[in-house]
Amino acid sequence: MGEAISLGEVQETLLIPLYGRAQDAGRPDSILRDTRAIELVAAIDYDFAKFRGPSLAGSVLRASIFDGYLRSYLAQHPEATVVDLGCGLSTRFDRLDNGRLHWFDLDLPDTIALRRTFFADSDRYTMIEGSILDDDWFEQVREPGGPVFLLSEAVLLYFPAETVHATLAQLAKGFPGSRLVLDTGGKAMMGTQDRNPVFKQVSARMKWVCDDPAALEPHGVRLLESRTFATPQPAVAYTWPLRYRLGMKIMRAVFPPPVTTYKLNLFETTGSSAETGPTNSLGPANSE
Ligand SMILES: C[S@@+](CC[C@H](N)C(=O)[O-])C[C@H]1O[C@@H](n2cnc3c(N)ncnc32)[C@H](O)[C@@H]1O
Repeated sequence: MGEAISLGEVQETLLIPLYGRAQDAGRPDSILRDTRAIELVAAIDYDFAKFRGPSLAGSVLRASIFDGYLRSYLAQHPEATVVDLGCGLSTRFDRLDNGRLHWFDLDLPDTIALRRTFFADSDRYTMIEGSILDDDWFEQVREPGGPVFLLSEAVLLYFPAETVHATLAQLAKGFPGSRLVLDTGGKAMMGTQDRNPVFKQVSARMKWVCDDPAALEPHGVRLLESRTFATPQPAVAYTWPLRYRLGMKIMRAVFPPPVTTYKLNLFETTGSSAETGPTNSLGPANSE
């Protein structure tokens, strides 16, 4: 009998990327080689097989692009503090730990309780029960003192736009001059959720529609890079099987919306927002 779970609506969605990574790890041309995900899926008492469709592979491509942003940053700032906001059962720390960084994995209490049955804190790795919407964890992650890299993967999508904007402004004010990676989904993606096979299996729905990540700049962030599955970082594309590398480009050429509506974005926090003062926007370098 596996580990019984009791998770809130949005929290349950963490099982989708976990299963996606486990499936990927079972393939000879695996992208992430996340064999820990296979162990976790085997250890959790849940009907993972009900999850089907392109979102499983999509969560692997997404994770690899997030990894790419962080890898580049760590090459320049090996002693950074990384904060994964809404980490779920991600194993990114195991993939990217360089022996020098400090890492915080933050998620809601029920998710972290589940996480603690499989992972343990160590001198440079700490789990925090908290919310991306709150600021009561800010002091704790500032403590190591390194430059801060914030990332939030498939989390903010579940909140209304006003909540996301206020959260960005709060993060920007709390961590000025930091990097922030997050994903955005446009109308074409949000409008088709009910037809997505994985969303037929969970009750949570994404709420935040964002067609243009540069439009977030009044909320204390400056867009540095924006990518889609058709435009991953070259070093990341190199790790993808040809079917994804070519497939995404062909899809974009033939019928762009499914590929171009979902974006993976790298921001710099400016420390001021429309609520707290003018931004110092230089305009984004958009790779799309
Ligand atoms: C789709 S899962 C993504 C998990 C992980 N980032 C990944 O990609 O594997 C959404 C995650 O958001 C977390 N979450 C929901 N509301 C949150 C909040 N207010 N603060 C932090 N995390 C939250 C859930 O617990 C869940 O782990």
